[in-house]
Order: sequence, then C-alpha cells, then structure tokens
Amino acid sequence: MTTLAPKPMRASRISIAQLMQPEHANPAGNVHGGYIMKLVDECGALACMRHAARRVVTVAIDRMTFRQPIKIGDLVILSAEVTYVGRTSLEAAVHVEAENPISGEKTHTNTAYLVYVAIGEDGLPVEVPPLLAENAEEREKLAAGQARQRQRLEQK
Ligand SMILES: CC(C)(COP(=O)(O)OP(=O)(O)OC[C@H]1O[C@@H](n2cnc3c(N)ncnc32)[C@H](O)[C@@H]1OP(=O)(O)O)[C@@H](O)C(=O)NCCC(=O)NCCS
Repeated sequence: MTTLAPKPMRASRISIAQLMQPEHANPAGNVHGGYIMKLVDECGALACMRHAARRVVTVAIDRMTFRQPIKIGDLVILSAEVTYVGRTSLEAAVHVEAENPISGEKTHTNTAYLVYVAIGEDGLPVEVPPLLAENAEEREKLAAGQARQRQRLEQK
C-alpha cells in the first residue's frame, strides 16, 4: 500500500553496476554516450520508484556532460538518490563512475539531475511522500534540488 508518510533521503539510495561490453561501443571504440544516458535514466527512476512506491516517468533531464570517456571492459557504477520532491515530481541525482576492474582505478565521469513524475494506474500524476533530509549535507542537497526545480519551471 502507498502511504504519504515522509521518507528519508537515504531510503531512496540505489547503485547499479554494469560491465561495458563490445556491443556498447561507439565507432571510436569507447562506450556510446547514449547508452550511459539510458543507464542514468534507469538508475534515477529506480531511486524515485523506491521513494514514491509508484511507477514514474521521466519528465526532464538536465544537461549531461561527460568529463572522461568510458572504455569497453570498464565497470560502470551508477549511484542515485532522490534530492527533491514536489507534489507529484521527484528529482534524482545520479553519479556515474567508471572502474577499471583490474587496476581498481575509479574515474568520476559525470553527475546528472533528472526529474520524474509519479504516475497512478490511470496514467495521471499522483502525490508522493515528502522527503526527509536528516543531516546538514542532506539539507544542502534538498535546498539545491529545490533551486534547480525552481529554475526548470521558470525556463519551461
Ligand atoms: C509527466 C506528465 C504525466 C506530466 O503531466 P502534466 O500534465 O505536465 O502534469 P503537471 O503539469 O501536473 O506536472 C506534474 C509535475 O511535473 C512537474 N513538471 C512538469 N514539467 C516539468 C519540467 N519540464 N521540468 C520539471 N518539472 C516538470 C510539475 O512541476 C509538476 O510537479 P509537482 O506536482 O511536484 O508540482 C506528462 O508530461 C507526460 O506524460 N510526459 C511524458 C512522460 C514520458 O513518457 N517520459 C518518457 C519519455 S519517452
């Protein structure tokens, strides 16, 4: 059953990891950026589904900048958490790292912010539980999420 009791930010945290295989390559032999975008979208959605206990749809993706190429054979580790909720919308921050599984070297390749809307059985937006920030770091994340969402809606 879905309740609207507040839920802590930490409860939404999720990590997924995937080994980059030859089928994920672009013509230059590195990983295709579009494939990473798909994983980012999925990981953010999982964090939001955890929070909302509902199906969610992506409504907005902020700019995505790839700081470093990801290589075939790297393990891509995506970590997401909910950083803001409105009435029906949720923002997820997704942090992407590439790990060389042999050397253990890890590179932070990008962080992205995405907005999802929780959807009911009828496909319409539904209310989500409030987000609890439990310490100073989480309160900062929540304030930054609120500011980003304000900007998005101003630019809409
Ligand atoms: C998501 C969707 C159901 C929202 O419907 P809507 O009629 O725009 O609903 P609303 O205007 O009530 O917006 C719902 C929430 O999304 C937020 N929102 C809408 N557009 C937004 C945008 N561009 N950026 C950030 N938030 C946005 C609203 O602020 C609102 O948040 P709140 O309830 O927390 O205040 C509808 O836009 C949709 O179905 N989009 C397609 C989603 C999809 O298929 N995604 C996959 C792409 S293939």
